[in-house]
Amino acid sequence: MGAAPKKLHVKTWGCQMNVYDSERMAEAMGAEGWVATDRPEDADLILLNTCHIREKASEKMYSELGRLKPLKAANPDLKIGVAGCVAQAEGAEIVARQPAVDLVVGPQTYHRLPALVARAEAGERAIDTEMPDEDKFEHLARARGPAARPTAFLTVQEGCDKFCAFCVVPYTRGAEVSRPTARLLDEARALVDRGVREITLLGQNVNGYHGEGPGGRTWSLADLVGALAEIEGLLRIRYTTSHPNDMTGDLIAAHGACAKLMPYLHLPVQSGSDRILRSMNRRHTAGDYLAVVDRLRAARPDLAFSGDFIVGFPGETAADFEDTLRLVERVGYAQAYAFRYSARPGTPAAEREAVPAALATERLHRLQALLEAQQAEAQRAMVGRETTVLFEKRGRRPGQLVGKSEHLHAVHVDAPDAAIGTVARVRIREAATHSLGGDLL
Ligand code: SAH
Ligand code: SF4
Ligand code: F3S
Repeated sequence: MGAAPKKLHVKTWGCQMNVYDSERMAEAMGAEGWVATDRPEDADLILLNTCHIREKASEKMYSELGRLKPLKAANPDLKIGVAGCVAQAEGAEIVARQPAVDLVVGPQTYHRLPALVARAEAGERAIDTEMPDEDKFEHLARARGPAARPTAFLTVQEGCDKFCAFCVVPYTRGAEVSRPTARLLDEARALVDRGVREITLLGQNVNGYHGEGPGGRTWSLADLVGALAEIEGLLRIRYTTSHPNDMTGDLIAAHGACAKLMPYLHLPVQSGSDRILRSMNRRHTAGDYLAVVDRLRAARPDLAFSGDFIVGFPGETAADFEDTLRLVERVGYAQAYAFRYSARPGTPAAEREAVPAALATERLHRLQALLEAQQAEAQRAMVGRETTVLFEKRGRRPGQLVGKSEHLHAVHVDAPDAAIGTVARVRIREAATHSLGGDLL
């Protein structure tokens, strides 16, 4: 018997891409003999995978570092690493100001993590926030054995060239890059072989996907979805996050034509005011957005929409905010997120005069109330309807499973454990705030 394997604890904040990246990092360390642990106090290495999108998200890393300090006092061999978008944006500062941090790794160099950890273990403070040309995914180990869940994320596109005036993503994730289709189809097949039944394609602008396909032809996201749909055993496909300007005709048509493509779409608009949209550098109007929504609904009438909104963007007047409320009423969201504008260092909007905080908060609450009412209505409208559910895991009550409907509602159903990983027809019996209850048909 050799020495006990070293243990890795990963804590993840931010978007689904960070979730995907954390899994890849754990797998890369797994290939080096490390095992994952849920308990930070047992770990030899703690990785914080961070988010920079709003000030609050970013602060979470610093408060977590404070909480971890005693662990480091108890175990001098413990290494702490910071990954993700805060690492990319503030890597050098973190190393300078946070003596507890042993390594910093940006989102584009995760394939170098094992080497960085080795350097940290040798006593060096290692930092890598380069944005190299090589495809990190090509060097990241893939796990074998059965998947923990029947659903999985698959990053197909990363980075953003859109430069919305409020957003750090183009700086933390770099320029838009699409992965080649052959690799994605391989990765998807490997996931399905491991028992995955639903794949969510990820990208900061996932519908801007333009990957190298067979014979050098460029594939669109619709082409990729079409090829994925042919994989036997893959039952459901989703994708997120989309930009209204990249919602091309072939992708809209796919929503009507591809049965495996689920009728739920996260399509952020940020504001309903053309004046604010212009000042956000969104390059579309509220009318452009509504036209895209209408075309999508024409292709797939039961498509459920989700969105993101920013309130209190610099210069937002009461009338601009009313335009946002009007747009929300016109679309009718199944679910949506509203954020108070947070000025981010290095972005153009950070230089502009802020809306008074109290006013922004008041608008946030008004918008959230409207969105919550729409969500409750969308949940209620499901009662009595039939849908299909992909069961993901046991529910809270014995004998109960929880899964997702086609429209991404969480649904609780009495069903045997053997149904986990299968899709069943369910009639919805009742609606709670954030989930539905149903019965097997
Ligand atoms: N690529 C996606 C998601 C970007 S980040 C897109 O283009 O929509 C997720 C959401 O965070 C954004 O849609 C936006 O609503 C919000 N967000 C981004 N920057 C923000 C900021 N500075 N303040 C408040 N919310 C912000
Ligand atoms: Fe940020 Fe805009 Fe790019 Fe989305 S499209 S990631 S909001 S810059
Ligand atoms: Fe946050 Fe980076 Fe995602 S800033 S939202 S973790 S791309």
